[in-house]
Amino acid sequence: MRDELRGLIAQLRARAEISDPEDWKTDGSGEGFAAPRVGLACAPAPTPAPESPPAAALETLAEAAALSSLRAEVLACRACPLGFQRLNPAFGVGFEDAEVMFIGEGPGFEEDRQGEPFVGKAGQLLDNILGAIRLSRKSVYLANIVKCHPMVDPSDPGRRGNDRPPTPEEMAACRRFLDAQIAIVKPRFLVALGGVAAKVMIGTETGIMKLRGRWHEYNPGEIPLLPTFHPAFLLRSPEHKRDVWEDMKDLRRRLDADEI
Ligand code: URA
Repeated sequence: MRDELRGLIAQLRARAEISDPEDWKTDGSGEGFAAPRVGLACAPAPTPAPESPPAAALETLAEAAALSSLRAEVLACRACPLGFQRLNPAFGVGFEDAEVMFIGEGPGFEEDRQGEPFVGKAGQLLDNILGAIRLSRKSVYLANIVKCHPMVDPSDPGRRGNDRPPTPEEMAACRRFLDAQIAIVKPRFLVALGGVAAKVMIGTETGIMKLRGRWHEYNPGEIPLLPTFHPAFLLRSPEHKRDVWEDMKDLRRRLDADEI
């Protein structure tokens, strides 16, 4: 899958690099900005060629295209029962070139309606947490372990509070999408929100109380990963907000210290 995505990005990049000079031709003759053959003396000065788009912009474009084709795959996915039960998949949202990706466990009632991660009450708290360290849902990337709403009673998607954690089988079926999102966005840091996401991303049975606040690694050696409490847990246990604040200050320090 990663190789396919890398191939797609390379193709898009190559296409953009090849197609631009074609677009610059003014007369369709294939001669670009060659001087006109007649009336040279009074010919208007040729318009300067537009600058080639910076490589970073091309890369972001390729990432956006790769994410959009992955989103289409998620929309069509029926690899587990959740694909038949959800109203809308909550694929992921944010900046395709984000430095930080936050990972939750799965969409809830509101996310199922809007097809976007973290748009309910927990999402509002997450927005505030991000703002406190000068980040926003537009500057980071937000995704979940599973893209479809796990429900206690799938026959009643209109009922609030009908949420449950995803099963190991559901997480395994969906995992390739999250791995692909990480491969495309290539964040410098990952933050796992809550025990379910932390355990799966680190590959451990240790609980969030012990995991949080210490840096781990996604795919050892690849990306530093910080587990912290889930904002939904903070809504129930606000006394733990201080712990998350410490974790976020640590993340901010790492972002500032490792500034490229
Ligand atoms: N909780 C999650 O883990 N993810 C969401 O998108 C919303 C709530």
